[in-house]
Amino acid sequence: MGDQYAVVLAAGQGTRMKSKTHKVLHPVCGKPMVQHIIDNLKAAGIDQILVVVGYGADSIQNQLKDTVQYAMQEEQLGTGHAVMQTRSLLKDKEGTVLVMNGDTPLVTPQTIEALFRVHEAQKAAGTVLTTEFGDPQGYGRIVRNANGDVEKIVEHKDATEEERNIREINTGIYCFDNRKMWDALSRVNNDNAQGEYYLTDVIEILKASGEKVIAHKTPDCDETVGINDRVQLARAEKILRNRILEEHMRNGVTIVDPDTTFIDAGVEIGRDTVIYPGSILRGKTVIGEDCRIGPHADIQNSRIENNIAIIHSTLSDCMVKEGTHIGPYAHIRPGSELGRGARIGNFVEVKNTTFGDGSKASHLAYIGDAEVGDNVNIGCGAITVNYDGSNKHKTVIQSDAFIGCNTNLIAPVNVGRGAYIAAGSTINKDVPDDALGIARVRQTNKENYAEKLRNKKSFGGK
Ligand code: UD1
Ligand code: CA
Repeated sequence: MGDQYAVVLAAGQGTRMKSKTHKVLHPVCGKPMVQHIIDNLKAAGIDQILVVVGYGADSIQNQLKDTVQYAMQEEQLGTGHAVMQTRSLLKDKEGTVLVMNGDTPLVTPQTIEALFRVHEAQKAAGTVLTTEFGDPQGYGRIVRNANGDVEKIVEHKDATEEERNIREINTGIYCFDNRKMWDALSRVNNDNAQGEYYLTDVIEILKASGEKVIAHKTPDCDETVGINDRVQLARAEKILRNRILEEHMRNGVTIVDPDTTFIDAGVEIGRDTVIYPGSILRGKTVIGEDCRIGPHADIQNSRIENNIAIIHSTLSDCMVKEGTHIGPYAHIRPGSELGRGARIGNFVEVKNTTFGDGSKASHLAYIGDAEVGDNVNIGCGAITVNYDGSNKHKTVIQSDAFIGCNTNLIAPVNVGRGAYIAAGSTINKDVPDDALGIARVRQTNKENYAEKLRNKKSFGGK
């Protein structure tokens, strides 16, 4: 067995997507299509990967960085022409090259490995991965001869009525003997319906020159769906979503209603965590064991430790430590770190704040750009006034402080350890440790005034 290489074709514009975003950068379950492909190739043990870029090359290079090598296809003259652009990097190599389209992100590492295995075991010059679709519309068809051997691939647009009835399709994934592929590629022309240099013609050329060409048919047609437009994108998303959900369930996560639960590729969840309906877990989120997530939790790029409840709440780019309870209806924004056994309740917004162990903000509060110590109690309606119209300022609330209801803490301000703030205060000066800060107008009661008012009203003419 020689070396293994992979070429991923991603230079086409993907006009059928009708999008400003490059086709292969559209996310499927949160991860760009082409990133799925690179991750799957690497998981299959292939490290030497060439990506052919052209249209929107920068955006792809920006995504994949230096994890792969690039070849440039200045003009998109077809899939065969795209492979030709890797010539200087590949043509002298011995071994097997896998070529695949950048728009088939669901193919698993197992299938890629199996394709290599079959191709190498059979000592074929070319092996095409095929599958059968009930509706093969748009795909290249596999034409076999009377013996059942692969003869050629005919594109949908070039196919005869009879050929269009063939259900076995080209998935756009192939293994080739590298040297033989280069030989055949040099003979591909663009004499077809689209005036393009088709990679698919390599199969017919190899066959005609007496080389061994075979098909490896995979039974799981879901894996090989190619994404050309947004209808296929949604189909792929659904397939991958179910795969991800099943994997979590098999690993010990309860998902009460898989139909209304959305989990991105790469999210980690610990055992015995229960996900309730309507929840969306996105990006680089990691959730521990024994958590209760949802209903309707939207969590993005966040690290959630064990035994945490998050109910009807939105969290992004934050960290939550063990035993904390969030929601219902809380919003935890980027840069926040909530301590152990904390409580963030109804209609509380927290932004860029460290919130200490055992601290509570149970109702209707805004805590932004703050450092809150341990066992602090923040009353209903309290807010940090962190923005003066041009700059953000910090509020420090030290451990064991008690912030009365409807307090305004005008930052920058420091509330000392164990201090009390009287309800309704507007605090703009530091409060020392253990002091009571009170800043509100004193109440006056006007005796019998209410009765006077009532009388006034009843005599007031209409
Ligand atoms: C291709 C196959 C078809 C197969 C289908 C599977 C050819 C001629 N046809 O058709 O047999 O059933 O995939 O999904 O190969 N690309 C370039 N440069 C180009 C043209 C395309 O890099 O000049 C890239 C595209 O970015 C894309 C991939 O090649 O990632 C496939 O191109 P696409 O236009 O989607 O081919 P299909 O029509 O789907
Ligand atoms: Ca395609």
